[in-house]
Amino acid sequence: MSSPPFDFDYLRGLVQQQSAVVLSAEKKYLADLHLGAVAERTGFSSIADLVEQLKRTPFGALHVQAVEAMLTNETSFFRDHYPFESLKTVVLPHLIQQRRQERSLAIWCAGCSYGQEPYSIAILIQEHFPELANWNLQLIASDVSGKALARLKQGYYSQLEVNRGLSSTLRDKYFHKQQETWQISDTLRQMVTVQQLNLIHEWKALPVIDIIFLRNVLIYFDTETKKSILRKVHQHLRLDGYLFLGGGETILNIDDKFEPVQIDQSICHRLRIG
Ligand SMILES: C[S@@+](CC[C@H](N)C(=O)[O-])C[C@H]1O[C@@H](n2cnc3c(N)ncnc32)[C@H](O)[C@@H]1O
Repeated sequence: MSSPPFDFDYLRGLVQQQSAVVLSAEKKYLADLHLGAVAERTGFSSIADLVEQLKRTPFGALHVQAVEAMLTNETSFFRDHYPFESLKTVVLPHLIQQRRQERSLAIWCAGCSYGQEPYSIAILIQEHFPELANWNLQLIASDVSGKALARLKQGYYSQLEVNRGLSSTLRDKYFHKQQETWQISDTLRQMVTVQQLNLIHEWKALPVIDIIFLRNVLIYFDTETKKSILRKVHQHLRLDGYLFLGGGETILNIDDKFEPVQIDQSICHRLRIG
């Protein structure tokens, strides 16, 4: 869709207010890339018309669609490989040992996008920890984006998406092909509890968590937001729990309650004792 100039400053203000995601001026291409489809779907002749409508109406469904379209949902199955290896070889064996009396474990993927991350954990558990079938296992997947969570619930992935990170053996074992897409098995879908949760709001409906995956999410926030989210992580993570961040993310000089711990080729974070 051809588009006359539009008020990008208004748009990035809206995105930051609703999600805390900071969009620099160079990120205007995201609007060019994604908002045309929203404008078309909702009956506007250009992005500029859509933005003007957003500006003159109270916050509602159209604003939600615009914000969701501006968020980066990049993800893949077993993204970066090594965090999942350390989950398999160290983290889950350790916590299974620690919780063997209560037989209860909670894992949370915060900012889970379309679900490849929580479903990768579900596959890993099915493959390597069959004993957890008799445990009270909570695998919670949350995101601010209702659009992303709707896809996660349906569990449909394109050929391209299943090619990214999944072996053909795992693909054929846990997905069935439906024309051009692959749907994840009901067993895996039933393992995942989906919750729409905005990290900048209160985390009311969450239990205490043993393992938090907060990967490739903090990078989009300013330092104050990162600090306040990490304070909440601190309150929700069990004392002997594990926090996983994205490969390129560091919380050095942002939060000193966590210490980085190297496990094989990946780094995770644990609460400092004392
Ligand atoms: C790049 S994806 C990361 C997906 C996955 N964790 C991974 O590493 O592959 C970032 C996700 O964070 C979500 N997000 C952005 N702001 C958020 C907020 N305030 N609360 C919760 N999720 C948010 C986006 O909707 C997006 O799905």
